Amino acid sequence: MEQVLAIYPGSFDPVTNGHLDLIERSAKIFDRLVVAILRNTEKAPLFTLAERTEMLAEVTAPFTNVEVDCFHGLLVDYARKRKAHVLLRGIRAVSDYEFELQMAMMNRKLQPGLETVFMLPAVEYSFLSSRLVREIAQLGGSVSGLVPPVVERRLRAKVI
Ligand code: PNS
Repeated sequence: MEQVLAIYPGSFDPVTNGHLDLIERSAKIFDRLVVAILRNTEKAPLFTLAERTEMLAEVTAPFTNVEVDCFHGLLVDYARKRKAHVLLRGIRAVSDYEFELQMAMMNRKLQPGLETVFMLPAVEYSFLSSRLVREIAQLGGSVSGLVPPVVERRLRAKVI
């Protein structure tokens, strides 16, 4: 039987424990998981693409069926190129749903054969976002328990 390849796309600026929780859950369900970092030319990220890739590669190293890659342009084009079957997105709260639904439906319009699958992170990460992590770190707060230790170290070094 054909293996199911899922793509987990995002900015991952930086990867949080919420992302990691979803990676761990989805790696048990799908045969292969590609964590795909958007090379976004509009937003000015805190971490470069290389830095985000390094951090993700380090924290996903224990999962043998997880790969880290980056993409630019339309997600559906990247998914087609990778021959992916599934787009994976996390939903933390009802407030995420409206935007995620819009994106999922638009991606379905663009590529009908590609399914979007939503997964829920552990409840303790339901309030967590990369944006808040960046803000807390930049204002001198503690992000302990919110991001993997490697990210915590890199955030500290970045905001000094
Ligand atoms: O982590 P984010 O910023 O919520 O991820 C958003 C992402 C990368 C999934 C989304 O912006 C995206 O897919 N961008 C690629 C461009 C694209 O395909 N746009 C049309 C979406 S319907």
